[in-house]
Amino acid sequence: MASSKLLSQPRWFRFLPRNLSNARLFSELASQPPVSEPQNNIESKSNNNFSSKASSTPSSLKEPELAKFSAIADTWWDYEGPFKPLHKMNPTRLAFIRSTLCRHFGKDPLSPRPFEGLRVIDVGCGGGILSEPLARMGATVTGIDAVEKNIKIARLHANLDPTTSTIEYCCTTAEKLVDEQRKFDAVISLEVIEHVANPAEFCKSLSSLIDHGGATVVSTINRSMRAYATAIVAAEYLLQWLPKGTHQWSSFLTPEELTMILKRASIDVKEMAGFVFNPISGRWSLSDDISVNFIAFGTKENESETV
Ligand SMILES: C[S@@+](CC[C@H](N)C(=O)[O-])C[C@H]1O[C@@H](n2cnc3c(N)ncnc32)[C@H](O)[C@@H]1O
Repeated sequence: MASSKLLSQPRWFRFLPRNLSNARLFSELASQPPVSEPQNNIESKSNNNFSSKASSTPSSLKEPELAKFSAIADTWWDYEGPFKPLHKMNPTRLAFIRSTLCRHFGKDPLSPRPFEGLRVIDVGCGGGILSEPLARMGATVTGIDAVEKNIKIARLHANLDPTTSTIEYCCTTAEKLVDEQRKFDAVISLEVIEHVANPAEFCKSLSSLIDHGGATVVSTINRSMRAYATAIVAAEYLLQWLPKGTHQWSSFLTPEELTMILKRASIDVKEMAGFVFNPISGRWSLSDDISVNFIAFGTKENESETV
């Protein structure tokens, strides 16, 4: 299995923050001005469909990004629609999540409900593509998204099946749940960080949601030329898998940058894998090639070890 191969041959290890010459400076990442308006302005708008209550942490909301997702919210469960790539990638990302979380929490990966007893939050859950299988795997799932329409679709779809109707869906943000002092065993956020206003602050919020001994899984797209060619030019313009403008190349993070901002948020990245697409089979698989899509598993450091 590719993820266990990664443990013995961690090619991604070279991306850990030792040589930072090619990385954007952390301070630059942290200080990038959010494209969205300040939190107070967001709060004062009553006509939006986005999560809008104020939080003491800087807002992760980037309104133009949220508007894009709101516009296509009714296509979440169209397997041939704009979220087809996420549906296609789902078994592969679930394989990584199953393997890393089971190892971390001492669960049996071969069990039909390996996540029984785990409280899992899916941050930026969209229509629930990931939340639903997590619930079927036994987790007590909370799914949150900043777009109200997404949450409505997610709830409607989850209610079609008794094993997923237990999912707690809420239109909110990670930073607001931090204010409410919510804690989870596993905090998962897939394909969201490239859409938030401030990735470093977002990672701090994810970290604050992790309970003692917990873990996190984050996936995103590498800011590489290959990612530009495949995730933007091919996926959006040539193959038209995604609406044009879905992704901004400059918002992508390299594995090195993601590892670094997670580290600053007291999360140690322990394992990383890439996703590669086979155009002949039409399937995704785990790989040690992290040059385009990649996923990271990390654990929370003890408070006393915090940098
Ligand atoms: C590419 S989709 C990924 C959906 C889901 N995580 C998956 O992989 O199936 C990104 C999602 O993140 C949500 N989102 C973007 N910014 C957010 C934020 N600051 N807080 C919560 N959700 C956010 C969007 O509304 C959208 O549903």
